[in-house]
Amino acid sequence: MVAEMNGKIGGKSLHWAELGFEYIRTDARFSARWREGEWSEGELLASEIMPLHEGSPALHYAQQCFEGLKAQCARDGRVLLFRPELNADRMREAAGRLLMPVVSEALFLRGVEAAVQANREWIPPFGSGASLYVRPMLIGVGDNLGLRPAREFEFRVFVSPVGPYYKQAGLAPISLAVSEMDRAAPRGTGSFKIGANYAGGLLATQCAQRQGANEALYLDAVEQRYIDEAGSANILVVLRDGSLVTPASAAVLPSVTRRSIMRLAADRLGMVTAERPIDLRAEFDDFVEMGACGTAAVLSPINRIWFDDAWHAVNPGQSGGKGSDAGVGPVMQELYDLLTGIQQGEISENYGWIHEVHLS
Ligand code: PLP
Ligand code: COI
Repeated sequence: MVAEMNGKIGGKSLHWAELGFEYIRTDARFSARWREGEWSEGELLASEIMPLHEGSPALHYAQQCFEGLKAQCARDGRVLLFRPELNADRMREAAGRLLMPVVSEALFLRGVEAAVQANREWIPPFGSGASLYVRPMLIGVGDNLGLRPAREFEFRVFVSPVGPYYKQAGLAPISLAVSEMDRAAPRGTGSFKIGANYAGGLLATQCAQRQGANEALYLDAVEQRYIDEAGSANILVVLRDGSLVTPASAAVLPSVTRRSIMRLAADRLGMVTAERPIDLRAEFDDFVEMGACGTAAVLSPINRIWFDDAWHAVNPGQSGGKGSDAGVGPVMQELYDLLTGIQQGEISENYGWIHEVHLS
């Protein structure tokens, strides 16, 4: 057990505004073990190194899942999580799909809160542009060889201060390249946040980046026609008729950020919203604004997409023409301001989305 921390929020002297999305070792991580049908209480550990049996099913057969959420410091010093119950739900779904024991919402939240509380000095101060990324994970451990579930599991939560996921800070446009590789099959595991989905995406991301894009954009695996999602974010599109649409697909991750933005667009901006299949080529000329959203990505406007051997500018009039990085559309700007305002406690909400972590 590591000693209780008494330092103040943001006590570590990091250059908060210059952080990227990289692992930074913090002081403590939460760990609970599942053995013989039950979870241990859990404890805080000092070491970031996990001693693992070489036969662990997490290593061979990817019996593991993970989550991602952020703790943010509000202007008044409160530490806020955004809808962590949805991350707990999603981890429960993934555990069921991969025959892993369920981490109850209570254990999930206890682990997340304990990791945040113990690392208060690593929480970036309000207004720094950075936040504390929280990475819960559930992995199958212990000796095993055949293809069967592990008999022991670890639920671990570590944290790391992070800046923007894409290089530019704040609301800056990105580009995507349609992948020639599929991410997920309709009845596969695409809707679960499991490591197996991401290893397969590494090469697709590399190909997209060689093309000059930030990330891969996946189309549906059956017809290569409908938008699924980007490598680490869901997709939102503002259409010429003023509506906000997002792909309906069984193969995409049910993003907490996307579900929240769709709600805010309807409730606060009075937009017509729909979740439906979006045919990239047939509808592209009607795209007025496009964005990629997620915990790490926040909301990043997309200004161009590579497909059919060419770059296609999203609404070239607005974005200043093919290849321009100039344009951030008004709807993406408003949605970004609303979302981040709520997440940082600047804009009030009555949905119950904000979960305060009490530090003492
Ligand atoms: N899609 C994928 C593949 C992701 O990895 C993520 C990140 O978590 C998202 C979408 C966005 O989900 P969320 O908003 O819950 O972070
Ligand atoms: C997140 O946004 O939290 C994710 O897990 C995406 C990951 C690829 C960094």
